[in-house]
Amino acid sequence: MLVFLAVFILIVSFTSLQTEAAAPQEKSKGIGPVKTVALGPINPKWVDEGKGIFNTQCIVCHDLDQKKIGPALRNITKQRAPEFLMNLLLNSAQMQKEDPTMKALLKEYNNLPMPDPMLSQAKARSVLEYMRSVAK
Ligand code: HEC
Repeated sequence: MLVFLAVFILIVSFTSLQTEAAAPQEKSKGIGPVKTVALGPINPKWVDEGKGIFNTQCIVCHDLDQKKIGPALRNITKQRAPEFLMNLLLNSAQMQKEDPTMKALLKEYNNLPMPDPMLSQAKARSVLEYMRSVAK
């Protein structure tokens, strides 16, 4: 009887593990002009440009490793889809108003909305590349 029960539990836990593996959670793409981002090998030119932008426009509020006025960003490319990050940089106001993730973050950060960084799509892509390059 006990053996029967053990086998039964084993089968149940195995099938639930399988369903989890079969349905990976899709990361949100956010709201904005960017529908897909094709990620290739890291482009060092874009990383350079992105680093420059980060260190002039973002560093006031963001550190890579520590929470400042905004969240730490080192591993943000592991947490969010590239489309989400691009859309946030290109369409911050609408994302803060309508995207569930950003609405929750805005609350967490004392309703201080991150200002629109006014970047072109190419510059936002460079910032994304820099973020990819610093992830551990
Ligand atoms: C004036 C401060 C400020 C500046 C400047 C700023 N941010 Fe933010 N950022 C925030 C705050 C605060 C949040 C949390 C969400 C909110 O309150 O809007 C945030 C959120 C984010 C998020 C979302 C994090 C997550 O968990 O999804 C990313 C990505 C981000 N910022 C990147 C940048 C980049 C890149 C720049 C520079 C181009 C930048 N920010 C400039 C304050 C700032």
